[in-house]
Amino acid sequence: MARGELMKKLLASYGRDDEFRAVAEQIIGEEEKKNNRVLARSLRKTLEAGPSRPSGPKALAPLLPFPEAAADFIERIEPQHTHNDIVLGATNVRVLLGLVKEFRRADEIRRHGLKVRSKLLFCGPPGCGKTLCAEIFAAELGLPLFLVKLDRLISSYLGETAGNVRKIFEFARKQPCVLFFDEFDALARSRDDSSEHNELRRVVNSLLLFIDHIQPKGFLIAATNLDQSLDPAVWRRFDEVVWFDKPDRAMIARFLRLKFKNIATAFDPLQHAAALEGYSYAEIERVCTQAVKTMIIDRRKQVQARDFNRALEDEARRRAGQSRLASPS
Ligand SMILES: Nc1ncnc2c1ncn2[C@@H]1O[C@H](COP(=O)(O)OP(=O)(O)O)[C@@H](O)[C@H]1O
Ligand SMILES: [Mg+2]
Repeated sequence: MARGELMKKLLASYGRDDEFRAVAEQIIGEEEKKNNRVLARSLRKTLEAGPSRPSGPKALAPLLPFPEAAADFIERIEPQHTHNDIVLGATNVRVLLGLVKEFRRADEIRRHGLKVRSKLLFCGPPGCGKTLCAEIFAAELGLPLFLVKLDRLISSYLGETAGNVRKIFEFARKQPCVLFFDEFDALARSRDDSSEHNELRRVVNSLLLFIDHIQPKGFLIAATNLDQSLDPAVWRRFDEVVWFDKPDRAMIARFLRLKFKNIATAFDPLQHAAALEGYSYAEIERVCTQAVKTMIIDRRKQVQARDFNRALEDEARRRAGQSRLASPS
């Protein structure tokens, strides 16, 4: 077989160990036939030295074919970040690591007749790392991350939605993955809204029922900006709630250190930690980015305190505008 075809087959066998080995053997066979003995021997050695079972701690989960009908409502997200990119408090680190450990020992725990925690609710104000953490959590587990497009699901409620919800969940039941419901509040809100269509209510309720009944092969994570106001009927469906709060001064300092790790400054950014209290990580990040951009535009090699202060002023102005929009007099 042509080499290109074999390569394609090899990639297509991703996650299926037996098939992968069969194709690898075929490639080695072809090289032997072509008398490339040294290469063939070295390939065989590499193959034999590889893990016999792809189930190491960070083993990649096999990927099932994507269900056609669900494709409009779920999207695979490629992780772009690692745990080095997130600032987390000690409690969250402990909770999340505990979940990772539990997941790795899931079979053993189930053999003891115990349930493995797998449904998580991430709560907290916008821009404090809920989405980022879901991405990094999946990457650390070696699980693919699938984002459920709730807005699509909700806006397309007429007709087929209940069926699509079922397909999403059937997929998550078989596919080891992190199934991520971002901006889950949209759902909770629509459940409250009495003016909404009955059909929508029905779909939302069926979604909640599925969450109740599913035992995911990986994790189901829902993220919401609401906290107390979240419907208790939604709350109790989750095994664990993780809070993502706005950073306090110490966490701001950690975040600034991270953001200016590879950037020269003519001032100490940590001196500004107090001035940034009350801002979210996303807002502080915007301040840092704008300050760095000013340095680039002015063709300087160092960020200066005034770049940072100007960026902070802009952020404060932006925030003032936001509260004016939120409470028109
Ligand atoms: N805890 C954090 N640590 C590091 N960066 C963060 C953190 N929280 C937010 N950010 C930055 O802000 C951006 C937006 O955060 P995001 O995770 O989308 O917030 P949320 O989902 O809570 O609204 C992230 O992509 C990241 O750049
Ligand atoms: Mg988010």
